[in-house]
Amino acid sequence: MKMLPLAAILAGLVFFSQGCMQKKDSSKATADTSNSALTGDEIVLGAVFPMTGPIATYGQESVNGMNLALKIINKGGVNGKQIRLIVEDNKGEPVDSANAVRKLIDIDKVHAVIGSVASSNTLAGAPIAQKAKVPLMTPASTNEKVTETGDYISRTCFTDAFQGVVMAKFAFETLNKKKAAIIIDNSSDYSKGLAKVFRKKFAELGGTVIEGSFSYVQKDTDFNSLLRKVKRTGPDVIFLPGYYTEVGLMLKQARTMALNVPFLGGDGWDSPKLQELAGPDAISGNYISSHFSPDDKDPKVQAFVKEYTTSFGQKPGAMAALGYDGLLVMANALKNAASLSHSDIQASLVATKGFVGITGAITIDANRNARKSAVVLETTAAGNIFKQKVNP
Ligand code: PHE
Repeated sequence: MKMLPLAAILAGLVFFSQGCMQKKDSSKATADTSNSALTGDEIVLGAVFPMTGPIATYGQESVNGMNLALKIINKGGVNGKQIRLIVEDNKGEPVDSANAVRKLIDIDKVHAVIGSVASSNTLAGAPIAQKAKVPLMTPASTNEKVTETGDYISRTCFTDAFQGVVMAKFAFETLNKKKAAIIIDNSSDYSKGLAKVFRKKFAELGGTVIEGSFSYVQKDTDFNSLLRKVKRTGPDVIFLPGYYTEVGLMLKQARTMALNVPFLGGDGWDSPKLQELAGPDAISGNYISSHFSPDDKDPKVQAFVKEYTTSFGQKPGAMAALGYDGLLVMANALKNAASLSHSDIQASLVATKGFVGITGAITIDANRNARKSAVVLETTAAGNIFKQKVNP
């Protein structure tokens, strides 16, 4: 498998290798097994994304966004070289994420890795990239611990320390809610971390966080007893930092038992599937923080929304925009790198300053996190509607 033909990109065809060898030049590869791709006439990037499983829309949207970016980048190339993207499906699982990172580094000899989305997935793969000193940049994982893995790990999105504060303030100040219940996905580092930030900020503001353990794990489908337990405590708002599959089902079940207070969430709700899973009655009147709004009037954003919608038949969500920006930031870093060694690529990546993307201006700080604005969106049957922009 070589470059994606343009037609395939435009048709939205996703390509991902399933463990097949992807060496372009086998003679070179055997001559220099440590770094074969680094001397070739193309730049090879590995991407680890959930293309299947319960968080598959994250991967599908990301790859769509990256393919649009790739089309722009490869028109002129990066200092004369084409970028080749090898996409690995981690199925939303930590073990598959670790295996994918290992395969991309050991077999494909990639210049850098992009991914993944779910923080628990990225946390499983990052130590492998760190140990091999191969740059790993996630466009979407917001948990604090991700970049603490080491100096080869960076991100082009904001973190949950910011996102959690945005939603605690929105609940207390904008919605005027005083008594929050928090429901946690115990199988997700993202959910646990974001809940912690929200809890602390909401209490600091003067709100009450209801005591009690309200939790579930990914792939659960029946939330009735959990929701009854929550309802009995009488919250006026519920913070649910989960992923869209469980969130969608939970919203639907909550409305069925007339648990009608607003639910608030984070970027994990941002999926074209959420509306479908929750159904039109349960979706409205809930709010999330996210990275991007397709309603943004910025002409650059509108051009992206138009091209994405024409290419893939649906409006882009946060992951589409983050994937697009992430690959453009990576290409920019490759262009400015002193050489294509892993250490020079990493140095160039962390030097990113004020890169104007469609998810905001991206500056990578000393802790290799991006400082960026967030948006608050209302989830409605017609899609997510822009409410506020919050600067860091
Ligand atoms: N921030 C989420 C996490 O760290 C992943 C995510 C990003 C999901 C953007 C949807 C959109 O787990």
